[in-house]
Amino acid sequence: MNRLITALLFVLLSSNLWAAGGPAVPMDHIEPDISDQESLQRGLTLFTNYCFGCHSMKYARYERAATDLGIPSEIFEENLILGDAKIGELMTISMPEDQAKIWFGSAPPDLTLSARLRGPDWIYNYLRGFYADPKRPYGVNNVVFKDVGMPHVLADLQGVCAEPPELGVEPQVDPLSGNIIAQSGCDSYSSEGSMSRDEYDEAIYDLVNFLEYVGEPSRLESVELGRTVLIFLAFFFVFVYFLNKEYWRGIH
Ligand code: HEC
Repeated sequence: MNRLITALLFVLLSSNLWAAGGPAVPMDHIEPDISDQESLQRGLTLFTNYCFGCHSMKYARYERAATDLGIPSEIFEENLILGDAKIGELMTISMPEDQAKIWFGSAPPDLTLSARLRGPDWIYNYLRGFYADPKRPYGVNNVVFKDVGMPHVLADLQGVCAEPPELGVEPQVDPLSGNIIAQSGCDSYSSEGSMSRDEYDEAIYDLVNFLEYVGEPSRLESVELGRTVLIFLAFFFVFVYFLNKEYWRGIH
């Protein structure tokens, strides 16, 4: 028994360590909510406008996303599908991998399973971790993914941080003035974007929420199904309880 407990503890601890992985960069934590359809819709729109040019989602189908996110097919087809792809198709892109390697140093990976692979926190921090670094080919580096090959494609929204942003900072408010004195993210920008710091954080939350959904679309259904099953069991229990009573009545 003791050995079993030790083994269990070992597995639990090691999987925790494994999940943390990589060098310890402090990170902000988010709770994705894939039942928030509006957030998912905003995330999908950002994804098709800013990411889909380079990253495919080859295990996802447009139609499935349209249905799950409550977007009518015609609107989806007109606004969110690039080129002449059909709504029943997989979300692949036509960027040739060998060319991409030459342009960026490494090919942009498929993002269908990225949230499951890296975890939502990692992506949330990664997309808020870019900063100006003139030594890099695209003029930016990233605190979460050092010397990354990806350009800062959201620079027109966020702007470009002048210094490496500090992430995973507990927000602190000065009790006297009510001013924020410590907060995660950029403090100074080398070029301005169209969003405030909070707006950008929310946009990235939506985007990561969408990536989280795409990693396991059937989870939406499982939750729904789980609820139905529990309600059914509750009713069934009452029925079985009385049936049981009925069976035993003549015996006692
Ligand atoms: C111009 C092309 C391009 C665009 C547009 C682009 N990326 Fe990337 N992305 C890359 C490249 C190239 C890499 C690989 C970087 C490396 O390995 O150094 C990458 C890597 C990533 C990674 C890390 C994957 C991993 O697990 O290693 C994530 C996550 C990611 N991109 C998300 C996004 C998101 C979200 C968007 C849209 C906001 C986006 N990318 C837009 C080129 C792009």
